[in-house]
Amino acid sequence: MLAKDCKKKIILTGDRPTGKLHLGHYVGSLQRRVALQNSGEYDEIYILIADDQALTDNWDNPQKIRDNMIEVALDYLSVGIDPAKCHICVQSNIPALHALTFYYMNLVTTQRLSRNPTVKAEMAMRGFSNSESNDNQAGLPAGFFTYPVSQAADITAFKATTVPVGEDQEPMIEQTREIVRKFNSTYKNDILVEPEILLPELQSQRRLPGTDGKAKMSKSLGNCIFLSDDEKTVKQKVMGMYTDPLHVNVSDPGHVEGNMVFTYLDAFCRPDHFARFLPEYENLDALKDHYRAGGLGDVKCKKFLIKVLEDMLAPIRAERARWAADLPAVYRILKEGTEAAVQTTNRTLAEVTAAMKVNYFADESIIEEWDRWIHQ
Ligand code: TRP
Repeated sequence: MLAKDCKKKIILTGDRPTGKLHLGHYVGSLQRRVALQNSGEYDEIYILIADDQALTDNWDNPQKIRDNMIEVALDYLSVGIDPAKCHICVQSNIPALHALTFYYMNLVTTQRLSRNPTVKAEMAMRGFSNSESNDNQAGLPAGFFTYPVSQAADITAFKATTVPVGEDQEPMIEQTREIVRKFNSTYKNDILVEPEILLPELQSQRRLPGTDGKAKMSKSLGNCIFLSDDEKTVKQKVMGMYTDPLHVNVSDPGHVEGNMVFTYLDAFCRPDHFARFLPEYENLDALKDHYRAGGLGDVKCKKFLIKVLEDMLAPIRAERARWAADLPAVYRILKEGTEAAVQTTNRTLAEVTAAMKVNYFADESIIEEWDRWIHQ
């Protein structure tokens, strides 16, 4: 049983339900998940809607998380995540994750948590400060500060071997691996599994900038194209995209680096898109060469990008509408996915509590142990 367990290939990944998912999520992780799901190489796949983690910086607005729970579930289903192959599950309703988080807190130091670069960046963005003598910044909520520990619980509870995520999640996986090693050595066992991160294959897909050219597509910056945007909205967003400020007239030579139209084409266009939508160019290199040389207008490139995006988004939108018309089915998928997750994670928790000697009521043999101890 154990040896077989160790060989299993298990995926765990997830998202915070703080907003609808966008193109950055799609290139950075969703399309990969669908490919992994269809590869048939994995024994189990769990996709976690991390609502507890979302609450660590939205504790005062639970309705927002509740509303986005269904948005994210619809986004998953509409991009092709197949509930027959993946368990879509809801973090808050998987009690073992809370218990594991609490035990893992003993295995990390606040100093170590303070060094997490992703958490540091997020603290800066949210105005959370860790210093004692404080100024006018908000304090650092302990729940937010320790969410990497809860993420380690997510990953290890499923004994995930593979975590497909964007590169901003690298520090979380590293923290998880450290907790696994600490747990297994402290409690002398090999219960927990060290996960591997699986990053997007192409550099162009690792971090999609916003339509405004800012480093990251993010809802709070208002520079996103959402998977659920309608055609008109996508058109407007692409037409307003940041390109090359030095490319004033069509005849001017242009820059493709830092030009969002080309950055997005790098991430989304395939050779067949040229044959279908822009046959006068053989491929993206030919289009870039013309843009650099001068004589190619932004509008033409933007219209091509709109076609490329629509080609991808139209079927996603149609699937979304289909699922949105059957919310009871979505409810069942989440409920059943969560039930499967509860079973899996309870098994891990039982092993963990045994290793930590807190499984008092698992069986009555402890009475004999007490007897020996008391009457020795
Ligand atoms: N931290 C992830 C994000 O912000 C969400 C997440 C929570 C997650 N638990 C996870 C990702 C476990 C992978 C594995 O997107």
